[in-house]
Amino acid sequence: AAQAQASGAQDSPVVYAHRGASAYAPENTLAAVDAADDLGIAWVENDVQRTKDGVLVVVHDTTLSRTTDAEEVFPGRAPWAVKDFTAAEIAELDAGSWFGAGFAGARVPTLSQYLDRVERNRQKLLLEIKSPQTYPGIEREILRVLRQEGWLDRGHVKHRLVIQSFGAESVKNVHVLRPDVVTGFLGTPAVADLPSYAAFTDQINPSHTTLSAGYVAAVQKLKGAHGKPLRVNTWTVNDAAKAAQVAGFGVDGIITDKPDTVRDATR
Ligand code: G3P
Ligand code: CA
Repeated sequence: AAQAQASGAQDSPVVYAHRGASAYAPENTLAAVDAADDLGIAWVENDVQRTKDGVLVVVHDTTLSRTTDAEEVFPGRAPWAVKDFTAAEIAELDAGSWFGAGFAGARVPTLSQYLDRVERNRQKLLLEIKSPQTYPGIEREILRVLRQEGWLDRGHVKHRLVIQSFGAESVKNVHVLRPDVVTGFLGTPAVADLPSYAAFTDQINPSHTTLSAGYVAAVQKLKGAHGKPLRVNTWTVNDAAKAAQVAGFGVDGIITDKPDTVRDATR
């Protein structure tokens, strides 16, 4: 990176640990946050949803089956949707054994617990609002928890927090409720539509499968909601050669399960 800076070339892409360092620890658990920290990775990405009793929890799928033992603990509760379980029920589940015996007993964290750990590690958070259409009003609730936990002060908002979603309306809601917060839209809007996204977001975060150098340049030449060039963070790149390729496209960031591999491939 030092060489790139000295020559005036672009910095290496920022590396985001996808669901934490999820190649090395069970996704979206505190262990995955710590695994990223152990690798020296500042940014972690997560997925936020809401329980039946209104508690915000960090889990990717809208059902609990893949990443917990919900089917064993609560038989007869098919389809084991996150929204149909209380926070107390979810707190009973083992979210680590599916990944490896050494992680037995890992829990689905609440957003508050997750923020505490990220804060303790002095890391930064790319927070995804998952399936926002399932959880009307979740944007306001996420912002409330962030405020309670001290994540909406100037320092966090300026340097340590981005909120993203595949739902454009959800991203817009965040921007309207808290115009100071940096936001990202997950997807690959047509180039002609980019200016309408730039009105409410700072980042366009596309799948690497949709990416080209031309698209990255078309995004970056526009200014985002806070007057800076729109940024491009692409996902989910776990392969060194692919990471080098998208870095060559000029992306600002790479979201990956293997942040060490991507860092090494792009420095
Ligand atoms: O942060 C981007 C990426 O996480 C979006 O896809 O399904 O892994 O949440 P997904
Ligand atoms: Ca995600």
